[in-house]
Amino acid sequence: MSLFAIGDLHLHFQSELKAPGQLHDPVWKGHEERFRQNCRAMISAEDTLILVGDHSWGKNLAQCEEDFRYIAELPGRKILTRGNHDMFWEAKKTAVLNSLFQPHLTFLQDGYEVYRDYAVIATKGYTFEGPFYLDRSRRIIGWDEEKEEHAKKLVAREMSRLRASFEAARADGYRKFLMFLHYPPTNILEKRSAFTDIAEEYGAEQVIYAHCHGESRFHDSIEGKFRGVQYRLVSGDYLRWVPLEIMD
Ligand SMILES: [Fe+2]
Ligand SMILES: [Fe+2]
Repeated sequence: MSLFAIGDLHLHFQSELKAPGQLHDPVWKGHEERFRQNCRAMISAEDTLILVGDHSWGKNLAQCEEDFRYIAELPGRKILTRGNHDMFWEAKKTAVLNSLFQPHLTFLQDGYEVYRDYAVIATKGYTFEGPFYLDRSRRIIGWDEEKEEHAKKLVAREMSRLRASFEAARADGYRKFLMFLHYPPTNILEKRSAFTDIAEEYGAEQVIYAHCHGESRFHDSIEGKFRGVQYRLVSGDYLRWVPLEIMD
């Protein structure tokens, strides 16, 4: 029994593809088929696969049907978490998604799922991504402060969701945690953040995140061990469509 993770599949079997990079970068060519083959080679029925947001370019559920069918046919138990492009998924309507798709797919938001003796906690997170203003030597000399203020509100909302989920798991007796975010835990200006702090506070063993895709973004945040927590980037193009084994 193993736990795997990957994010940013950005499927578009029925919808318009909106990222030009995805059209032209060779890593995306036939990625659906390559990922399916990798999953079939690595994942068995008793394994769990966590898909860490940005599942589909579909604007609504009807435009995601084929994408969900593709995901449902992958091996193992599938748990989906929210990404910034998942327009079909309003946080408040997660129960509706689960009633439609369980037992084939589980949508995780506000609450937790169990893997062995771990509580799996997930939320979208949020990271201020600028715009940043650079000088001639490409040093950051400022940023859009209005957008930064707005970002602080989004971070606060995500933090309250995370805390509630950790507390629910704790109240049910769980002491071991894996924390999934779609956005990276820190932005390019930060060494630590509210997200790294809460991971430390609850003793999450690993923080797994996605969203950073395209070569220039792969190293935007923390990778490896930092202050006792293991950080792992699992965006699909970074992993070359090979799901990462998080735990066996
Ligand atoms: Fe993405
Ligand atoms: Fe994203």
